[in-house]
Amino acid sequence: MTAIAVLGTGNIGTTLAGKWTAAGHQVTLASRNPDAPALRDLAASIGARTATHADAVRDAEVVVVALPGDAVAAMAAALGDAIDGNVVIDATNNLGPAEMNSIATIVRHAPGAVCARAFNSLGGENLADPDFDGTQADLLWCGPDGDPGALVERLITDVGLRPVRVGGLDQLSTVRPFDRPRSFATHRLVGDGRRPSSGTGSALFLAGATANWLHGVGDHFAERSLSWKLLAASSIGHIMGIIVVIAGVTTGI
Ligand SMILES: NC(=O)c1ccc[n+]([C@@H]2O[C@H](COP(=O)([O-])OP(=O)(O)OC[C@H]3O[C@@H](n4cnc5c(N)ncnc54)[C@H](OP(=O)(O)O)[C@@H]3O)[C@@H](O)[C@H]2O)c1
Repeated sequence: MTAIAVLGTGNIGTTLAGKWTAAGHQVTLASRNPDAPALRDLAASIGARTATHADAVRDAEVVVVALPGDAVAAMAAALGDAIDGNVVIDATNNLGPAEMNSIATIVRHAPGAVCARAFNSLGGENLADPDFDGTQADLLWCGPDGDPGALVERLITDVGLRPVRVGGLDQLSTVRPFDRPRSFATHRLVGDGRRPSSGTGSALFLAGATANWLHGVGDHFAERSLSWKLLAASSIGHIMGIIVVIAGVTTGI
């Protein structure tokens, strides 16, 4: 049994909390309004307790950040000392800034935190029901190996997902919602523990990586000097990405 503090009581926080209490973990739902009757009822129904953020992290082994991305900086500044040394799982997506994850923000205030990136790349409905017609969904994640990594994988498994560690925190750009063909290609090919094994698989992976590169490089430089060539590169990358995803889905690779 692991003591888990889930920061944020939205779709993601409450879904994860329900899965983990069902698996026997001790879960605290951390809220700005821990005494709100609706939240108390919900927590009681899944066997969790509610608390303020500060109280929730006090005895937690694992802290899961399920807040809006723009709320993480204030949380990390307030709780930095308290979560230093904890395993901290970042499930947030910053939809505006270049960095979708909040790892750097957390580490700035809690340099000793053992951070992982997980639960951000699937929708709440997939976390609630990770079974696709009898096939268990994979969850790409990155972060520590060793004991903390095993703990993260245990928690992913307890949600009903198959954990797929794609590496350390240098792989943050791979663990993102499938808006990038590289994430998609990684999921379809490496995510199953397979190298690209067929000609079609290899071609698809190469096309995904090229599309990602074209789109990324085009975007990056187009922000600095607007040029139709860069915009065209970015658009071609984007269109290639869509084709890669459609090809992957229809061929079932
Ligand atoms: N929804 C999805 O399918 C999905 C999938 C993957 C990842 N994500 C990411 O996961 C995170 C959580 O998403 P979500 O859909 O569960 O809910 P959310 O609407 O982003 O909010 C989560 C909770 O955070 C708390 N909160 C809201 N504003 C806050 C603020 N300014 N300061 C402190 N706490 C605040 C609220 O709980 P209290 O009022 O109880 O404090 C709220 O219920 C987001 O970063 C999102 O991008 C979402």
